[in-house]
Amino acid sequence: MPPVSQTAASNRFSFEERLQIEYLLDNYLEKQNEGKDVIDGLTQSPKSLPPRYFYDSKGSQLFEQICALPEYYPTRTEAAILQQYAEKIAKITGSCELIELGSGSSTKTRLLLDAYSALNYPLRYFPIDVSGSILKESAYNLLKDYATLQVHGLVSTYERALSQLKPSSLPQRIIVFLGSTIGNFTPSECDRFISQVSTTLDRGDYFLLGIDLQKPKHILEAAYNDSQGITTAFNLNILQHLNWRFRGNFNLDSFSHGAIYNESAKQIEMYLVSQQTQVVCLETLDLLVQFTAGEKILTEISRKFDRQKLKDYLKTKGLKVIESWTDSNQWFALLLCRREINKNVF
Ligand code: AVI
Repeated sequence: MPPVSQTAASNRFSFEERLQIEYLLDNYLEKQNEGKDVIDGLTQSPKSLPPRYFYDSKGSQLFEQICALPEYYPTRTEAAILQQYAEKIAKITGSCELIELGSGSSTKTRLLLDAYSALNYPLRYFPIDVSGSILKESAYNLLKDYATLQVHGLVSTYERALSQLKPSSLPQRIIVFLGSTIGNFTPSECDRFISQVSTTLDRGDYFLLGIDLQKPKHILEAAYNDSQGITTAFNLNILQHLNWRFRGNFNLDSFSHGAIYNESAKQIEMYLVSQQTQVVCLETLDLLVQFTAGEKILTEISRKFDRQKLKDYLKTKGLKVIESWTDSNQWFALLLCRREINKNVF
């Protein structure tokens, strides 16, 4: 597709005219079910917690710090791959609507925005994140730096945002899911998610996916047990968040952090380990939870992928990997997929 030059007139639009933020959270049903996932996780054996509770504002800040840690290679490795291939991605997709799932601070997205801007391709950016404050702040920063960019933020879960997207007003659409966040889904959650992404796209639309690849155990375990203790603080903060949200009395000093690589399941498993026998109360959930000394709560899995297996799997979902790029260590990969069949067909 040839570049379409942007009009000088679009420069005259104010921030307010270029920015729209929609809140798709907090409806009645969500309020009714709030905390059900916590009750389910803490009353089953072994105990678990949904990783979405990591991301209150402190958790989101801690995650940003994790991304900059020397041991945590995924962020900088993915950014380097993106830096190298952003122009190629923009040339393949042409002018498009860029929908980013879990946009956070949108730092890596800037590499794509730069590439589209350099080619003068009109672009509309749809960041999707559950945190309204982060989404707003990063949207304002982007509007300052990209004079003609239109931002339509959706404060929402991925599922709801994808189900409510209006037809694209630009020739193509690309859904971007970076950081190997897909690795935090169980296989069945992953299956549901990929099906939804695929059926949201129309034939010829794109999906850009960042995946963390399988590698030696010591590299992986160092990345999730960093020497500065930021991952420990991130993991423990989930309890602080539950205390605040459900009037709980978790004592953070009586739990410790641990992350191990489960080699047969090819996944990092992050735990909080109770240091003593204890009972914890979550008042607004009407829940008492008993812990024995040494009992674990699984707070996160982070799956590590085999590139070829994932490509084959995506093909079964109607997503053909047309390009895939990796770094010199083959630690991380970016897959650019194209939807092969018409919308709403599996
Ligand atoms: C967000 N997600 C991809 C991170 C990961 O590596 O699985 C979350 C994380 N947990 C601990 N460190 C980073």
